[in-house]
Amino acid sequence: MTEPLLRRMCPADLPVVMEIDRQSLPRPWSEATWREELDSPLGLYMVLTEGGAISGHIGVKRVADEIHVMTLAVRPNRRRQGFARVLLKDVLAHPTSVGARRVYLEVRPNNLEARALYSSLGFVQTGVRPGYYGDEDALLTDPQSWLDVVARDVREVSVAVSLLGRIFGRLFVSFLLLTPPTLLGAFEGFE
Ligand SMILES: CC(C)(COP(=O)(O)OP(=O)(O)OC[C@H]1O[C@@H](n2cnc3c(N)ncnc32)[C@H](O)[C@@H]1OP(=O)(O)O)[C@@H](O)C(=O)NCCC(=O)NCCS
Repeated sequence: MTEPLLRRMCPADLPVVMEIDRQSLPRPWSEATWREELDSPLGLYMVLTEGGAISGHIGVKRVADEIHVMTLAVRPNRRRQGFARVLLKDVLAHPTSVGARRVYLEVRPNNLEARALYSSLGFVQTGVRPGYYGDEDALLTDPQSWLDVVARDVREVSVAVSLLGRIFGRLFVSFLLLTPPTLLGAFEGFE
């Protein structure tokens, strides 16, 4: 198999995408719904391909400063290769998502694979939407956790850099204070 690639979904992908959905989701979208979603200027729909063949797809929608994960599925015989994780990370790093403050996900309580996926990425459950799927409730994940994880990483790096700066600054000042003037004179002599 060749390296997986990610690209925007187009209407010509729908037959394959809908086939994967039929194999993956209890209530797959109709073609009309798919076309409406692909037409939406708020949507970002991506496919993951291997050797040109679609192995999985994801869709998110940006509304103001919120990202809503609309759909996600990976072809049954291509699961546990890290594809869903790649798809999710890709859409959340995409310019469409930049600046968003919240990420929403709904998942069926009995969908243990998806729940394991989301929690492996740092999402945690924050609520329940009763009857969301008609036949079942939805668990709502913590919309902030993903962005918090990213923000925390950035904060930790900047704190580390500023600490190192301070330590080296102090070491340099101590060096200047403790070094005998004669030795400093010798340093000045160097070209
Ligand atoms: C949920 C789904 C998208 C996961 O796709 P995937 O490509 O197999 O997931 P990944 O390989 O990226 O898995 C990433 C992590 O999720 C967790 N995970 C995924 N599938 C799992 C499973 N069957 N059992 C336990 N953990 C699982 C693991 O932590 C995994 O990391 P690891 O493989 O390093 O242990 C896929 O099972 C699917 O299409 N299911 C049907 C559709 C669906 O439920 N969509 C989500 C609707 S909310």
